[in-house]
Amino acid sequence: PCTGVVIVAAGSGTRLGMGIPKAFVPVAGASILTHALRGLVDLPGRVAVVIVGPPGDDERRAIAEDALDHELWIFGERLVGATVVDGGASRHASVRAGLGALPAACDVVLVHDAARALTPPEQFTRVAGAVRATGHGVVPGLPVVDTIKRVDASAYVLDTVDREALRAMQTPQGFPFAGLVRAYDSGAGEATDDAGTFAAGGGVVEVIAGDPDAFKITTLEDLAAAERLIARRAL
Ligand code: C5P
Repeated sequence: PCTGVVIVAAGSGTRLGMGIPKAFVPVAGASILTHALRGLVDLPGRVAVVIVGPPGDDERRAIAEDALDHELWIFGERLVGATVVDGGASRHASVRAGLGALPAACDVVLVHDAARALTPPEQFTRVAGAVRATGHGVVPGLPVVDTIKRVDASAYVLDTVDREALRAMQTPQGFPFAGLVRAYDSGAGEATDDAGTFAAGGGVVEVIAGDPDAFKITTLEDLAAAERLIARRAL
């Protein structure tokens, strides 16, 4: 088997307000991107990794290449590709750029948000294993604990959505490689996640259990939560 991993790290991180692209913000002594790469350690078989970085940013490209060198040597000869490519104006465009840089020999692809920096290694292996076992798209998700209301344009409540039928999506999202490339090539609209693009292309997607530790770092509060989680894991 060969697992291709696309790590999207081209976002600006405006909501974090640190003035640098989010994936390059340090948490407990290493960048968000470096922490994300550490999640790959337990992937079996051959592995190819593409980091999708901020376009036209040579300084960040060099930092991302360093991170690949420092975190992925553990794979030895099992590492069949490690590159950094420029992202696009949307996450969709960034994923597309990443897919184009993976070796055709990969049977499964995992698409992961760098911002979900503390995703446990076990979630990567579980998603990849489920894709191989089923041939479907596989997405980790969590039950929704809040009551969710649908509203109109003026914020008047229309109705309550049955939350038992809802799951909040995480990453990595896993797919048969050729199938996801086909879905992106068919230009089936700009879905907000890869499962949406895969499904628009006719693919079947199933949800498996996610992990609270795979939360997306978006705000300063999330950054503090990430620091605390790393400290707890070091005990
Ligand atoms: O902005 P948000 O946190 O939802 O982005 C999710 C992930 O997609 C982040 O890891 C971000 O770096 C990435 N992204 C990207 N290219 C964009 C926008 C977002 O790679 N144009």
